[in-house]
Amino acid sequence: MAKDFDRMEDSNRSSNPSIHDVSNPARRVLIGGGLAAGVTGLLAPLAGCATGGGAADSSPLLGFKSVPVSTADTVLVPDGYSVQTLAAWGEPVGLSGETAAFKFDASNSAAEQEAQMGMHHDGIHFLKHPLMPETSNAGLLVMNHEYADDGLLHSDGMATWNAGKVRKAQAAHGVSVIEVENKGGRWDLVRPSPWARRITASTPMAFGGPGAGHALLRTAADARGVRPLGTLNNCGSGITPWGTYLTCEENFIFYFKGPDTPSAHEARWGLRKGDPVGYRWHEHDERFDATKHPNEPNRFGWVVEIDPYNPNSTPVKRTAMGRAAHEGATVATSKGGRAVVYMGEDARFEYIYKFVSRDRIQPGGAAANATLLDHGTLYVARFDADGKGRWLALAHGSGPLTVAAGFADQGEVLIKARQASDLLGATKMDRPEWIDIDRQGWVYCTLTNNSNRGAAGQLAPDAANPRANNTTGHIIRWKDDGDFDGTGFQWNHFVLAGDATLERADAKGNVKGDPFACPDGLWTDARGVLWIQTDMSTSAMGKGDLKNLGHNQMLAADPKSGDIRRFLTGPAGCEITGATATPDGRTMFINIQHPGESPSERSDPAAPRRVSNWPDQRADGRPRSATVVIRKNDGGPIGS
Ligand code: FEO
Ligand code: CA
Ligand code: CA
Ligand code: CA
Repeated sequence: MAKDFDRMEDSNRSSNPSIHDVSNPARRVLIGGGLAAGVTGLLAPLAGCATGGGAADSSPLLGFKSVPVSTADTVLVPDGYSVQTLAAWGEPVGLSGETAAFKFDASNSAAEQEAQMGMHHDGIHFLKHPLMPETSNAGLLVMNHEYADDGLLHSDGMATWNAGKVRKAQAAHGVSVIEVENKGGRWDLVRPSPWARRITASTPMAFGGPGAGHALLRTAADARGVRPLGTLNNCGSGITPWGTYLTCEENFIFYFKGPDTPSAHEARWGLRKGDPVGYRWHEHDERFDATKHPNEPNRFGWVVEIDPYNPNSTPVKRTAMGRAAHEGATVATSKGGRAVVYMGEDARFEYIYKFVSRDRIQPGGAAANATLLDHGTLYVARFDADGKGRWLALAHGSGPLTVAAGFADQGEVLIKARQASDLLGATKMDRPEWIDIDRQGWVYCTLTNNSNRGAAGQLAPDAANPRANNTTGHIIRWKDDGDFDGTGFQWNHFVLAGDATLERADAKGNVKGDPFACPDGLWTDARGVLWIQTDMSTSAMGKGDLKNLGHNQMLAADPKSGDIRRFLTGPAGCEITGATATPDGRTMFINIQHPGESPSERSDPAAPRRVSNWPDQRADGRPRSATVVIRKNDGGPIGS
């Protein structure tokens, strides 16, 4: 989400200047692997066109021919591949006893929505089946539902507004767990399923870690500050080595009505005076009126751990990993056996974080690691202009994070992680989105765009964020010193995205690949392919720097060669987000989010003509977010 809401994604107004205010063009591009600390690649302008030419190059990883940019209202994949849709918004998830099918006029009740797939699918992960030994033809899919478009969610959109609509919208948020199986080449839900589950904006949860019970988390309904209700704006996600799912709360502040004069803390988190942009929950659910319940916003912005194998488990908001407009949470295991979680905060001029667990991962699944993410050190990244960087610990009593500076304890440091990062001098980034790791240990982070970079009164370009008016975004990568839990790193840019301005070179200075913009989703598959998904905003798509790029797309990159090829294009008005695959790599699942999105992100149900009717293509229907299943016709690994 966060398209035209973008104007609110700039609450980092701290006067602390970036210490990296030097743009160093010589550091801007490295492609081709290697761990050189200095300059190993130089910019070379792309002499290409909108469709690029990546397919001409050979890559041991990438065996398909690029698809061209597209403006068709469909999902296009390379020759030799097929797609099917699965689990669109409104499909019953398979709870026992429920029967209500999706109604194409959106007349399902709130209670029915509570048993159906939510809206706006996002982060997703395939988990091996709890019982079956075969792991690639059956399993669980766990996925996020980032937000709700109330125009599409209700038959008459927002023409009327009442408590039932608020309840339905809350039920369309959160997470779904579904059981899926491959029946003769076609994937379907298993219904009913004992693992089927909906987690919504109202599901009872717990807090874990140093923030649990903190005064800033206590409310009238939860005087102890330990039992938050629900999760929302669940964007990216992660999976732990012990089999739990991490769902990330992103733009939570947009749901809250703010006071006439927000406090410094509220302002730093983007809470503004008056009604929230886009949501009207506070009119019928007082919890979302921060003028009455000022601590309720503090109970969002967390990474939430869910055990999909136990449908009765309580999701836990892990405060030790810090509060942020969390995009995703990607878990690595250090050589010493600790969990290292990389997290981006998607907002203009916000930060990249890393959490290192105190204890080692234990064998024995979720039960054996039930509090692993409650103890550890949270760090924020500082990218220095010399190609090195530091992970700065958010530790109470250390450096500037003192009582005198307004941090009573570690809980307050974590709840106010933005303010703590400001004081530590962390690097303010161009909207950090997803993070993943290649087979050489490089950690990649998409920086989707930041048109405010270099604008009047805003931060200038720096070494890590080198372009003013960065409308097309870039991908940065780093390698931690020694191991994932190292406190220093080396970094470079994998790609500065764009069309005519795409600037990318391999080790020999050659440019190759297909142009794209606004990288967002990022996922490394079992073969080492780096999948890049784009989220050009609907209001900007097809204009300016994005004019030749068609619809949002998914590309496959070979991290070693730098070859980037367009693998898929999506339907009109969508973004591509979330990627996962069966263990054999022969079935890939991705999500198509908000097909047919209007520039306002709120659709008019009476609109005479929609830009998209995907995937149903029914004149009486509505565009629906859905999972797409991708298979290679010869049964081979996806991308090969
Ligand atoms: Fe929900 Fe940053 O995308
Ligand atoms: Ca989105
Ligand atoms: Ca995203
Ligand atoms: Ca995005």
